[in-house]
Amino acid sequence: HLRTATRVLLRLGEFHAVSFPEFRRKAGLLPWESYLAAQRPIAFRVSCHKSRLYHSGAVAERLAGAIADRLGRSPVVQAFRDSHDPHPPQLIIARLVRDHCTISLDTSGTALFRRGYRQATAKAPLRETLAAALLMLSGWDRRSPLMDPFCGSGTIVIEAALLARNRAPGLSRRFAFMDWPDFEASLWRRLVDEARKQEIPEAPPILASDKHPGALRAARANADRAGVGEDIEFARRPVSAVQPPPEPGWVVSNLPYGIRTRSDADLRQVYVQFGRVLRERFPGWRVTVLAGKRHLLRCAGAPLQEHGWINNGGVRVLLAQGTVSR
Ligand SMILES: C[S@@+](CC[C@H](N)C(=O)[O-])C[C@H]1O[C@@H](n2cnc3c(N)ncnc32)[C@H](O)[C@@H]1O
Repeated sequence: HLRTATRVLLRLGEFHAVSFPEFRRKAGLLPWESYLAAQRPIAFRVSCHKSRLYHSGAVAERLAGAIADRLGRSPVVQAFRDSHDPHPPQLIIARLVRDHCTISLDTSGTALFRRGYRQATAKAPLRETLAAALLMLSGWDRRSPLMDPFCGSGTIVIEAALLARNRAPGLSRRFAFMDWPDFEASLWRRLVDEARKQEIPEAPPILASDKHPGALRAARANADRAGVGEDIEFARRPVSAVQPPPEPGWVVSNLPYGIRTRSDADLRQVYVQFGRVLRERFPGWRVTVLAGKRHLLRCAGAPLQEHGWINNGGVRVLLAQGTVSR
């Protein structure tokens, strides 16, 4: 049920090393055979800070040597690209700080925000992990209505449905640890079965809208792939036309950034409308949003208050929250 991490690392070992022979000998004592399958290429990510071994490339070379010493065969070393590749090389992370080395193995493979359901995207999609974090941060109780009036490819509402249904986010994807020689497939199947038994059969009202037909098509297809298509009510409408259900709930949304095409005046108008709609039609609702720019957020006005900048896959976005007065 971990929804917000990008990857999970397993600490394989740590040791002190001030020379390459010492490093290679100590790294060679680690139980690599439990984790590295014969045909699986490996990749290194090495960082060195304030250490006598300061050349990360040379450290990676010695690490490959240590693995070869231990396994009796030379591993195939590749570059690690955080892509959609369903079979990335096994990532090994070595970190040297003041001559102390920690060696970790990536258990995830493809980054965890790639849950597998989002194949269609609209403009400026939000990482699945960040959408889940935003929902948790909003304080949504998972029982009251939830609405995203700028749903794009649907990431927030899909993550909301997964949360409300208590569905483990990685059930249908592969992880790097599944290729390890010590992986127990039967234990994994049991854990998956247990997770499925804990699912909740129904979700509260989850409402998604966007003014672009292409975004809605993408959102519906993604929600179906995630198995929550039935839990979300999709509607094509501009923010000026959204109507809340009678019972108050939460608005969680990723507002348009306008990185590409929109003129600033158009965007300001969207933010002004959003603020007005909230104040007129959503008394008592709690609101959490990400906005592209401070001056746009200010156009929305009350109740949104800034809570600082965060990073959405390389784009800085502003987090804002508030409760609409009754
Ligand atoms: C930043 S994107 C949302 C991305 C979404 N969170 C996702 O993960 O794909 C903003 C969305 O707002 C929509 N939008 C822009 N102006 C709008 C308006 N006036 N009314 C409703 N939707 C609008 C755009 O079509 C776009 O899909």
